[in-house]
Amino acid sequence: MSLLEVRGLRLDLPAPSGAIRVLRGVDLSIEPGGSLAVVGESGAGKSMLALTLLGLQPEGADVRGSIRLLGRECVGIGDRAMRRMRGGGIAMVFQEPQGALNPVMTIGRQVAEGPRRRGLGRGAARALAGEALARVGLDPARYPLDLYPHQLSGGQRQRVMIALCLAMRPKLLVADEPTTALDATVQAGVLALLRDLAEGEGMGLLLVTHDLAVAAAMTERVAVLYAGHIVETGPTAAVFARLAHPYTRALAAARPGLDGGGGVPIGGRMPSPRNVPPGCPFAPRCPRADDRCRAEMPPLAAGADGHAVACFHPHGRGT
Ligand SMILES: Nc1ncnc2c1ncn2[C@@H]1O[C@H](COP(=O)(O)OP(=O)(O)OP(=O)(O)O)[C@@H](O)[C@H]1O
Ligand SMILES: [Mg+2]
Repeated sequence: MSLLEVRGLRLDLPAPSGAIRVLRGVDLSIEPGGSLAVVGESGAGKSMLALTLLGLQPEGADVRGSIRLLGRECVGIGDRAMRRMRGGGIAMVFQEPQGALNPVMTIGRQVAEGPRRRGLGRGAARALAGEALARVGLDPARYPLDLYPHQLSGGQRQRVMIALCLAMRPKLLVADEPTTALDATVQAGVLALLRDLAEGEGMGLLLVTHDLAVAAAMTERVAVLYAGHIVETGPTAAVFARLAHPYTRALAAARPGLDGGGGVPIGGRMPSPRNVPPGCPFAPRCPRADDRCRAEMPPLAAGADGHAVACFHPHGRGT
């Protein structure tokens, strides 16, 4: 059984001028202990996808399609059942740990809260919190459980957030740009920690990032999101051996160093979900686009190696 199986996921957000379709039929899956990076530019729908997986989409949102976590359907199950899922099945590290941590509660109590809610006694929950903090590099001998978040650095607070998730023993950890707010050296440490924990604990990892290089280094599989569509996905090795979608190529070229270049910004802008053109949403920015691309959305078609591309004119092998 897959750990996570998402099929045809659509998300409409309410707006005065009519609903905005932010996710337009997303399919993805993660096997137990597997890892997937969701990559794309700002506004692609990455955070909305991550939040929707946890049932944390904005109030009034309309979710369609299927999200199965450990075989259980999560779409439409209601807040209480979803809260139980967040207890043990799925946990999320947010981009800004400041917002997610309570400034007036000690880190020990915050990390112990999940286990307490699962019915553990005070002492056992505190011991588990200490263990979880030690595993993220905040050994209680040096970082006492009664510290408050403001007594820690940004990187350390992000580690507390990860410990808080670990203490809930999730089968799947969703991390939304977990290091964007941190400086470069701290970023590398937190990412390495996440990868080691996922591998060591057999925990599934869904990592949201705007950085293709982070995806290449961190996860077994990658999915490129553009204007609410997955336009390219597959095993990381296969995808990076041949970046096939013109958007993925442009994303790679925009990042200094990844393709040996100095970073060429992608011309134009991603369409707003209020105003997505018919056909392929990348067509207006795509050097390969023709009339068909502007009229028809290409289906996500997979090759033998599991590498799938939604493009009528993908880059072929050796090009
Ligand atoms: N509460 C909301 N109401 C209406 N539209 C929203 C809301 N939140 C996000 N959006 C829109 O949904 C789209 C996807 O937003 P999302 O935050 O998922 O993007 P993202 O890929 O995470 O971008 P970033 O890299 O900047 O974090 C954007 O066009 C955004 O403007
Ligand atoms: Mg985001």
